[in-house]
Amino acid sequence: MSLHGKRIILGVTGSIAAYKAVYLLRLLQKAGAEVQVATTPAVEHFVGELSFGALTGKKVFGGLWSENWSEHVALGTWADLLLVAPASANTLAKFAHGLCDNALTAVYLAARCPVMLAPAMDADMYLHPRTRANLERLAADGCTVLPVGQGYLASGLEGPGRMLEPEEILARVEAFFGEKPLSGKRLLLTAGPTREAIDPVRYISNHSTGKMGYALAETARDWGAQVTLVSGPVPLKPPPGVHTIAVESAQDMYDAVHQHAAAQDILILAAAVADYAPAHPASQKIKKQGSELNLELRKTPDILRSLGETRRPDQVLVGFALETSNAEAHARAKLTEKRLDFIVLNTLEDPGAGFGHDTNRITIIGRDGSAESFPLKSKQAVAQDILRKVISLWE
Ligand code: C5P
Repeated sequence: MSLHGKRIILGVTGSIAAYKAVYLLRLLQKAGAEVQVATTPAVEHFVGELSFGALTGKKVFGGLWSENWSEHVALGTWADLLLVAPASANTLAKFAHGLCDNALTAVYLAARCPVMLAPAMDADMYLHPRTRANLERLAADGCTVLPVGQGYLASGLEGPGRMLEPEEILARVEAFFGEKPLSGKRLLLTAGPTREAIDPVRYISNHSTGKMGYALAETARDWGAQVTLVSGPVPLKPPPGVHTIAVESAQDMYDAVHQHAAAQDILILAAAVADYAPAHPASQKIKKQGSELNLELRKTPDILRSLGETRRPDQVLVGFALETSNAEAHARAKLTEKRLDFIVLNTLEDPGAGFGHDTNRITIIGRDGSAESFPLKSKQAVAQDILRKVISLWE
């Protein structure tokens, strides 16, 4: 009953995903929340008012022109959260511009509580520059904009735009109301690979996808931290509510990290930084000639090591080690050399762990010599284990 005593307005709009709102409503209630449903007129084409009314035991707020003409104001002050799921492109546009021509848009404008939006629409509508701008504006206004899923859409097209599954939305709501063990803390993360230019069209890089670093950024954000994410090129979207700085090379990453490092309480370096970069990147595309080409490589700055040298004693510094042999010994050596509080070890030998997977299996090695091995878990769950370890250092 993680949501016990919480009052939630579930805003439902006219999207094919509205049928999932019925299940979401049940999940919120099972978790202990008291729910009031508010709708836009288009919802009646998808789900009947009776379904929501019967499940909540409350009349759905779907019209502005009843005898309770000020109900939108009363609801706006009653709720602890306005959750709009599904949030259609049309309603998002109205929210972004302050229109209030129906019950839900009026509740939105009158709401004093935080607002969470779960967009749902066709891929082209989601990717349209107008919708992008509206979502950015809503995030800037303080709304929590949930990501969308990828895959088959009701239109038959494939792409982004699916509403997050009700279980995932519930998890976001629970995280929103949950404990914030990192509130007031500033955390800087590095994630993804770096690209080291050979010439204007070629580079040296590696297989890192950034998934582990992004999972850490999202979990830390949910736990209340102010997160700065310095990210190499990855196919992931910047997480909402996280200050994301996009970089390319190890040197760019070094500069961005050092610009922000002094202000941080926690530094977690999860990026797979190239150790060597072409010493003299060519300014023009290198032409094919001869049977061999020798590239002279030069060592890149070791960002983690440089932080170990300059860190304040009250800062927490965490590194990652991806090893293919003699893993624990190598990781222990890095921990000491780079003056870390702990190091997160994963090996490529573990099936399901390392680059590109949604799961990871880690061992956390502490400065005190301790080694704690965790089972294979989702990268989100691994992120929680790592952040719990950070918090334990202050206890
Ligand atoms: O020494 P090694 O590269 O294996 O250490 C890995 C750890 O050091 C990771 O946390 C990685 O993010 C960090 N690192 C770094 N800058 C580099 C190389 C590695 O911050 N140039």
